[in-house]
Amino acid sequence: MILSIESSCDDSSIAITDIKSKKLIYHKKISQELQHSVYGGVVPELAARLHVEALPKILEECKEYFPKLKAIAVTNAPGLSVTLMEGVTMAKALALSLDIPLIAVNHLKGHIYSLFIEKDEVFPTTILLVSGGHTQIIEANSLNDMKIIASTLDDSFGESFDKVSKMMGLGYPGGPIVQENGLKGDEDRFDFPVPLRQRPNIEFSYSGLKNAVRMQIEKLGDKDIKEQDKYDVCASFEKTAVAHIMQKVKKLFKQKIPKNFAIVGGASANIRLRTAIEELCQKNNTKLFLSQLKYCSDNAAMIGRVAVEQYNQKDFTLIDEIDVQTRIKDF
Ligand code: KG4
Ligand code: ZN
Repeated sequence: MILSIESSCDDSSIAITDIKSKKLIYHKKISQELQHSVYGGVVPELAARLHVEALPKILEECKEYFPKLKAIAVTNAPGLSVTLMEGVTMAKALALSLDIPLIAVNHLKGHIYSLFIEKDEVFPTTILLVSGGHTQIIEANSLNDMKIIASTLDDSFGESFDKVSKMMGLGYPGGPIVQENGLKGDEDRFDFPVPLRQRPNIEFSYSGLKNAVRMQIEKLGDKDIKEQDKYDVCASFEKTAVAHIMQKVKKLFKQKIPKNFAIVGGASANIRLRTAIEELCQKNNTKLFLSQLKYCSDNAAMIGRVAVEQYNQKDFTLIDEIDVQTRIKDF
């Protein structure tokens, strides 16, 4: 079995995965959403402090599996350096004391492998990764052959939901909150501009849309904005945010219809986005893969699933050589 740890942002999570069957033996996650909600976003130092409390608590429940462990896996990039450090420190201590190898896992590959938890991998797959930190399209041919073919020029899809939510004091994380509030709103009330509409390139941008929403909120009275106006802003914003992604993904399908397509990352839980992608794939006879909702946001089960493949390839990292990275340029 492999014990995997995830602490790249505001979720403390540990999983145990059986190497041969890929079955998830144990999985627990403690989210910090409530604690960060008052600040309207993740406060890195607070997140790190909360990992220090939560990770040992979860680990305590895993002790019975220690004799069966063959490796320790941990997310080491990309993420918040102070929070990644907490997971990496725990992983190093475990690998050292149990005298087993250490596996450093790329968090983005983790999101991709959230599709394959307790399942075999399916490649080649074109992947839309939408999270709080990333908005990318990735051509994935295998674990070691992944290429980013499109990215955001500024904010990410999930982040724009977080910021819109914060502007109206609705709380964190913004994605599910804006989605929920939008259900009560009129999506056609505000005509926000779809970003990069005239540009031929397949790339994303959310800062312009965010500013358009900010200006509209100011016009509606800023802090005194009425409840129904909030709902209408949420619905109109979400409609535009998804229209932008869809316009670019359709462009990609025009260039070449992918055999397999998937959406991963925390924001892949967005129903409007899921529905629009489902329709597009159906129309083009593309097989669509979606992670289960419980594995869309950050978790250690997806890290453990990548680690099984790395273990089979003997892709280990020396305890003294593991580093944490805030960003990665490519896979
Ligand atoms: O993957 P994730 O858990 O963490 C990162 O790696 O960033 O993604 C969290 C992001 C947050 O920005 C959150 O607001 C967004 O995913 N999110 C959503 C939805 N659920 C979560 N965005 C839009 N619609 C949702 N339903
Ligand atoms: Zn993530």
